[in-house]
Amino acid sequence: MSERVVLAYSGGLDTTVAVAWLKQNHNLDVVAVAVDVGQGGDMEVIRDRALKSGAVESVVVDASSEFAANFIGPALRANALYQNKYPLVSALSRPLICKHLVEAARVHDASFVAHGCTGKGNDQVRFEVSLGALAPDLQVLAPIRDWGMTRDQSIEYGLAQGLPIAPGNVSKYSVDENMWGRTIECGQLEDPFIEPPDEIWERTVDPTVAPSQVAYHNIGFVDGLPNELDETRMPLADIVAFIDKVAGSYGFGRVDMIEDRVVGIKSREVYEVAGSLALIKAHVDLEELTLDRETLRTKRHLEQRYAELVYEGLWYSPLRDAIDAFIANTSQYVNGVVRLRFKPGDVSVAGRSSSGSLYDMALATYDKQDAFDHGAGAGFVKLWGLPAKVWGRVHPPVTPR
Ligand code: ARG
Repeated sequence: MSERVVLAYSGGLDTTVAVAWLKQNHNLDVVAVAVDVGQGGDMEVIRDRALKSGAVESVVVDASSEFAANFIGPALRANALYQNKYPLVSALSRPLICKHLVEAARVHDASFVAHGCTGKGNDQVRFEVSLGALAPDLQVLAPIRDWGMTRDQSIEYGLAQGLPIAPGNVSKYSVDENMWGRTIECGQLEDPFIEPPDEIWERTVDPTVAPSQVAYHNIGFVDGLPNELDETRMPLADIVAFIDKVAGSYGFGRVDMIEDRVVGIKSREVYEVAGSLALIKAHVDLEELTLDRETLRTKRHLEQRYAELVYEGLWYSPLRDAIDAFIANTSQYVNGVVRLRFKPGDVSVAGRSSSGSLYDMALATYDKQDAFDHGAGAGFVKLWGLPAKVWGRVHPPVTPR
């Protein structure tokens, strides 16, 4: 009996070809593991395709609620955006896929794990760093990176091996998708000056064809996590799916950016992330209502580090854990309702309320109810500006001519 390898299987060209390759060139029995993180599509078809490609076992793991609870929830509470734009769609799913690969390796007594990533991307980093952290004893194989075939060569090899691939169906683009969004790469998108063609979009419409009538939805948050949609309790995954659909139908959530990959390459990346961006907007706003100024400032710094860590494959790291502990603490105060307004091309916050609101009408108002101590204002400004005054005396400003 050959030794076994657990392969992260997506059903796409690369991982399908990898099944045959691992068998042929490494003499390994392949156990294909496809992880459902809410990407849509028929997982049974994918399961079957792995078997038809020569896998000895093919497993589908439904991890969508786990993905929502343990990855999307934390990312939302962290308002995690890489380069302030990308909500980490693919970066978030990799550590969870790795967890299930390791579990499958134990169940099926495999000493190898394999992924279908290339040598230029971030995903190889995320897979291998995560696998190393979770199971240092397992040996990782990266067939696609090793063989270095072009897409056409892969198709040719696949056809020669009689694998279930239809060249007509092989996409021009490399797509990765889950409930937090959709990523699109390759094809014409590689020219950063060319506008993304209409054919790539699936979860968002063009804002020019969005409904002109404005819509509103209320998102209820408890502990920094959405748990109600329009006053009805709902699992997080359902709220994410609903908001993604509505925001996408209004032409919101298309991102086109130049991204700094871990391996040093700048790449043009295109995303459909309507739900994640809309919910992050709502969450940020509620934090501004319920967290004090100093906590907010510190959290905003940590959020960037958090996004970088996750992007760079360090989900399983002591620093990510520690920042999550900080966020768990601040999130206990982030409760309330945010009213989102949907109009063509935009989602914005129309209103917010919370029992833990720090907004004090008596302090903020310019009406006669005003309870703010204006005299204290004068003293405060005097002392706050004192260092500037002292500096100005010692270094008299040059008068502009
Ligand atoms: N650039 C994004 C990231 O690094 C998207 C990666 C998409 N992965 C893929 N295999 N198509 O997270």
